[in-house]
Amino acid sequence: MSFNVLVAEPDFELSDIYVLGIENAFQGVNVVRVSNFKELKAKLQSSKNYKLIISDYFREGDEDIFSFCDAIDCNIPSLIITSYTEAEFINFERDITYHKKREHLPKPFSFVKFEKLLTQLGGISTFVQSSSAYKKINTEYFLRGTLAICDTYVKLSDSKFVKVIHRGDTFTISQIESYLDRDINYLYINKDDIDEYVKKAGEVSFLKYDPSTPAEHLDIAQKSMMTLKRLVGRYGISTGTSTVVDSYVSNISKLSQGSLKLKALLKERENMTNYLYDHCYLTSLFGVEILKQLAWGKKDNIETIIRTSVFHDLLLEDESLARISSQEELLKAELSDYDKNVVLGHGRLMSEILEKEGLTDQNMYEILINHHERPDGSGFPRGLYANQIKPLTAVFIVAHELAKQIELRNYNLDENRSIYQYLADHFGQDHFEKIIKIVDKILK
Ligand SMILES: [Fe+2]
Ligand SMILES: [Fe+2]
Repeated sequence: MSFNVLVAEPDFELSDIYVLGIENAFQGVNVVRVSNFKELKAKLQSSKNYKLIISDYFREGDEDIFSFCDAIDCNIPSLIITSYTEAEFINFERDITYHKKREHLPKPFSFVKFEKLLTQLGGISTFVQSSSAYKKINTEYFLRGTLAICDTYVKLSDSKFVKVIHRGDTFTISQIESYLDRDINYLYINKDDIDEYVKKAGEVSFLKYDPSTPAEHLDIAQKSMMTLKRLVGRYGISTGTSTVVDSYVSNISKLSQGSLKLKALLKERENMTNYLYDHCYLTSLFGVEILKQLAWGKKDNIETIIRTSVFHDLLLEDESLARISSQEELLKAELSDYDKNVVLGHGRLMSEILEKEGLTDQNMYEILINHHERPDGSGFPRGLYANQIKPLTAVFIVAHELAKQIELRNYNLDENRSIYQYLADHFGQDHFEKIIKIVDKILK
């Protein structure tokens, strides 16, 4: 029988950390993840084939995780990790203190304590008491950032580990990708570094996840983000650019927390697997890279470009509308009057919303309004020409079109020359020319 563990935790990054502990403690383990009480109940109702449950303390009125388990006659060993105090449990003494198979770990917790409880509850026979001085970490976790938190090793044999990344170094996505290509699915770090790793891991992520998002969703989103990063890693993006983008973006979502309107709009982006999400991410990434190479990479410009990338198409629900980028395409699309007005006005409308919500940034407003203009006058809504478009807006327009063309051609590197040619022909006028030269480098 396989060793199944059920993890129920709303915070995806925390749940990753649980998985890390579980994978290091047990051999051949299979982890099932959910993110809320409802899903936890559904899982246990359909199967009790779990050796262990790691869960937040879920409580809804008079029902909590324990009364639910008792009601369905489920006696699986459980570790409850929570910031609730003992007094907030319905009956802490009965359910934890005097219950042999249930343990409580208050947040914040030490990883060592967590591991100890895992083995205590999981049963010593199943535990891999490794004499190794290393902990294994899923290689894909390394795709989230490009700064090494600690020394990282590849395992050659049980007794032989080689250091491949040094603490504090930046590494590239293609390096991690090459491990995955060779089926190196785990990398290793020193046992003593685990606490630090756990604390720092996951600090960078593109748009913070909402805890109410179903775990399955998050899983897909997380995977698609990793895939996206892998794909993008093959273009000429300097190390650090994606780290910068990731960390700014998580600040933007914090910034939006004060505004119900923005929060609601961003929440719609929660299903982070679609074109629009990738489109925002790629636009920020290319925008920041262009700024850096133009030596315009001062903090304000970077912030404006990333912020605008996140917000620019937020009012477009339909991705086919977001793909329209010239007057000609707009005509061909044969839209209803309503949709046509949405496309023509989404930039201006968004800038008005942001102004009302107190996000003051004149450059951002300017870009939002003009992000579909083109230097040869073929853009919309106004059909401006290059000399009417400001330099920072020009950077955004080019990054935006580059993102669109790469996605349109399915990240196929063989198409890079024709993408460059398209951009040079349609976006290479006047002061756009020097930006197109950078596009050439990114695509080489
Ligand atoms: Fe767009
Ligand atoms: Fe747009």
